[in-house]
Amino acid sequence: MTSSEVTMEKLVSLCKRRSFIFQSSEIYGGLASAWDYGPLGVELKNNIKDFWWREMTQLHENIVGLDASILMHSKVWEASGHVENFTDPLVDCKQCKSRFRADQIDLEAACPVCGTRDSFTEPRQFNLMFKTHIGPVEEGGDVVYLRPETAQGIFANFKNVVQTSRVKIPFGIAQVGKAFRNEITTKNFIFRTVEFEQMEMQFFVKPGDEDEWFDYWKKNRMTYYEKLGIRKEKLRFHRHEDDELAHYAKDAFDIEFEFPMGWQELEGIHSRTDFDLSRHQEFSGKDLTYIDDQTRERFIPYVVETSAGLTRSVLMVLADAYEEETIGEGDVRTVLHFHPVVAPVTVAVLPLVKKDGLAEIAKEVELALRQDFATYYDKGGAIGRRYRRQDEIGTPYCVTIDYDTKEDKTVTLRFRDSMEQVRVPIAGLTERIRQEMKNYKRIG
Ligand code: GAP
Repeated sequence: MTSSEVTMEKLVSLCKRRSFIFQSSEIYGGLASAWDYGPLGVELKNNIKDFWWREMTQLHENIVGLDASILMHSKVWEASGHVENFTDPLVDCKQCKSRFRADQIDLEAACPVCGTRDSFTEPRQFNLMFKTHIGPVEEGGDVVYLRPETAQGIFANFKNVVQTSRVKIPFGIAQVGKAFRNEITTKNFIFRTVEFEQMEMQFFVKPGDEDEWFDYWKKNRMTYYEKLGIRKEKLRFHRHEDDELAHYAKDAFDIEFEFPMGWQELEGIHSRTDFDLSRHQEFSGKDLTYIDDQTRERFIPYVVETSAGLTRSVLMVLADAYEEETIGEGDVRTVLHFHPVVAPVTVAVLPLVKKDGLAEIAKEVELALRQDFATYYDKGGAIGRRYRRQDEIGTPYCVTIDYDTKEDKTVTLRFRDSMEQVRVPIAGLTERIRQEMKNYKRIG
């Protein structure tokens, strides 16, 4: 068996064809760098989000959740340094008015759009935050920004959480939500978009303990991706050089994934010191110190942050799962090897034929399985074609009802990766699928 390389074009096409991801506002010609998640895409995204949430809040007794609003007081972004520092250097072509990131273009070369030489303006700093106004008037109304990271909602609520939820240092606050950046370079599908989702966790520690926790989270986050079923050889760390560090970070590692266009950042793990809380204390005039109830020491905690892109994770999961597998002379199947925990459909139930009561039995089996799994009922077309349809959307298990089912109350359980089939009694089906999910190991 052989398989060919995944490309971004193939992913975009599969995502559209099979209801994962659509271009935003497509009927109006599309909105650049904004995407909509279709029926299967939203299930995939929610499953990744739930997996992350469980990993953080259920599997760590010292991490609590939060859901802060997207719009915050504009002082938050002055304190965080985003108003001043969250900028990209941009140049414009004087001829065709195209805009480029100065660090991503050769300023001596001709404009890549219109070919004019010596046409670039001097680089100017361009803030990436989207600005809007609260209230009916634009002039003089209150300026607010759409948050460019979810993290500041956590810092701004640090005092609330400490005072009301009995957490003790070291502890974390986790949050998933939308973030917005007026990015200039937005190609590569959902990799870099102006509206996206982040899964962030701020871990508050005693000053001096941050290096130990930084190491802990580095390891923990890499293990998480392996648990999510991502192939190890597709993941690596990249340490930030001094000139790459964000304005708040004293040390940072990215977890990178080998996307179709090359190795790129998936998640950042940042040692943020007491930068954010100190700045918020200064700008708000509120005391944001923490008192250790054993030693009575008072300090501003240090922060280790893990910041993953949710929408970018969707792209990673799709790219890692995609395979075009040659299984016979001229026979290629497209298969998504999703880990069962994130697959939009866990079990498809298929009657071999519609007649002779098989469709009715299949529907009954499907209704029973629905209580425990995301199911899909499909009675149309040749059985081989129906299997392929499920392979292409990454359904790990198919259950087929045939004439033997009527005799002995057993069904065929078919595995996506190996295409193997076994006979299982209907009575033991739920438990068997549960076991298979738990012990899942990717083949292919
Ligand atoms: N709070 C820290 C922070 O926001 P970041 O490295 O700027 O750090 C973290 O962003 C993660 O958010 C990235 O690793 C990436 O997965 C995701 N991300 C950032 N900008 C994005 C964009 N324009 N589109 C999609 N995902 C993005």
